[in-house]
Amino acid sequence: MKALVYHGPGKRSWEEVADPTIEKPTDAVVWVDAVTICGTDLHILGGDVPDVTPGRVLGHEAVGTVTAIGAGVQTVAVGDRVLVSCISSCGSCRYCRQGSYGQCLGGGGWILGHLVDGTQAEYVRVPFADNSTHMVPYGVSDEQMIVLADILPTAYEVGVLNGGVQPADVVAIIGTGPIGLAAILTAKLFSPSHIVAIDLADSRLKAAHEFGADVVVNSGADDPAKVIAELTGGLGADVTMEAVGRPETFEQAVQLVRPGGHVANIGVHGEPATLRLEDIWIKNLTITTGLVDTFATPTLIELVASGRLDTAPMITHRFALDEFETAYDVFARPAETAALKVLLTASGLQHDSK
Ligand SMILES: NC(=O)c1ccc[n+]([C@@H]2O[C@H](COP(=O)([O-])OP(=O)(O)OC[C@H]3O[C@@H](n4cnc5c(N)ncnc54)[C@H](O)[C@@H]3O)[C@@H](O)[C@H]2O)c1
Ligand SMILES: [Zn+2]
Ligand SMILES: [Zn+2]
Repeated sequence: MKALVYHGPGKRSWEEVADPTIEKPTDAVVWVDAVTICGTDLHILGGDVPDVTPGRVLGHEAVGTVTAIGAGVQTVAVGDRVLVSCISSCGSCRYCRQGSYGQCLGGGGWILGHLVDGTQAEYVRVPFADNSTHMVPYGVSDEQMIVLADILPTAYEVGVLNGGVQPADVVAIIGTGPIGLAAILTAKLFSPSHIVAIDLADSRLKAAHEFGADVVVNSGADDPAKVIAELTGGLGADVTMEAVGRPETFEQAVQLVRPGGHVANIGVHGEPATLRLEDIWIKNLTITTGLVDTFATPTLIELVASGRLDTAPMITHRFALDEFETAYDVFARPAETAALKVLLTASGLQHDSK
């Protein structure tokens, strides 16, 4: 089969590799119908994730059809159309038993396209298939479903639920890439009074407005603190979310929240950020961090299937699987291409090589 293989920092190619097979009784093999690229894949290619070794097939998001199952697989059958989650779960360790699948101690967690071969391929071996896939409801398209593999649960669990968004809250979201936009979509489920989207890129702020942000602030030009002060009588936001992964934006999230408010960090950080305890000890803040667990994926699937959540606008570009190299190039240049999520499909019916 063909797959997108990592060959060390900066090097990737769409090439012939061995077909995956059932290695453990709990495995399934899935024919990949639709797959996407994550910002994390760009971090891997940038050499930031040294656990990913040369030769690894990348990718941790897919929708596909089960073609083989191991003898121990009980709830997934050949022919099932499934979402392959970015997080695998052994189902029995102490973390999995409390729904914290991201912290799995039994060989799961974020492994696909990281520690084992991933989804950017014609076929993928999915470990712990019973606990790591979700049936796609009838009538839900690949396009709507694919973003439920990673970015929607990440934004919802680590941003909206950890942030404790309540009706009538003023919510400030710093960074409106795919994760920040997914946070806007899912924060709206709780009817905040205002969502303030903050970014440096006007193209991303335009998308934030389309996704439902009430106020957009280019923090390169305007002061978000002033905008939020006007909305909150000078108090600060009830909830701030950091969806960039930079020290300065984490510090800004802490600065923009009101006393008693919540700061939900979603960003992946590579450098230390300063926590100004001398200023905030008195403010009764709740600050959370987290890797996505995907415990909320079934809820999000219900919301999409019932038409309460429209995820399709997240997909901005479409390619055939064998156009993977071009798709990476388009995804890596969002300022020029306005890419949010790119979709690659086996049928390859829809082309978009802008
Ligand atoms: N916690 C998790 O489990 C998890 C899972 C997936 C991704 N993430 C992380 O979430 C973050 C966002 O992901 P993404 O895919 O949306 O990334 P992205 O790079 O597409 O988007 C980041 C956005 O931040 C903006 N930005 C950059 N510097 C800024 C600044 N100083 N002020 C305001 N905005 C600024 C950029 O213009 C961009 O729109 C990343 O750090 C990613 O690694 C976390
Ligand atoms: Zn991802
Ligand atoms: Zn586990």
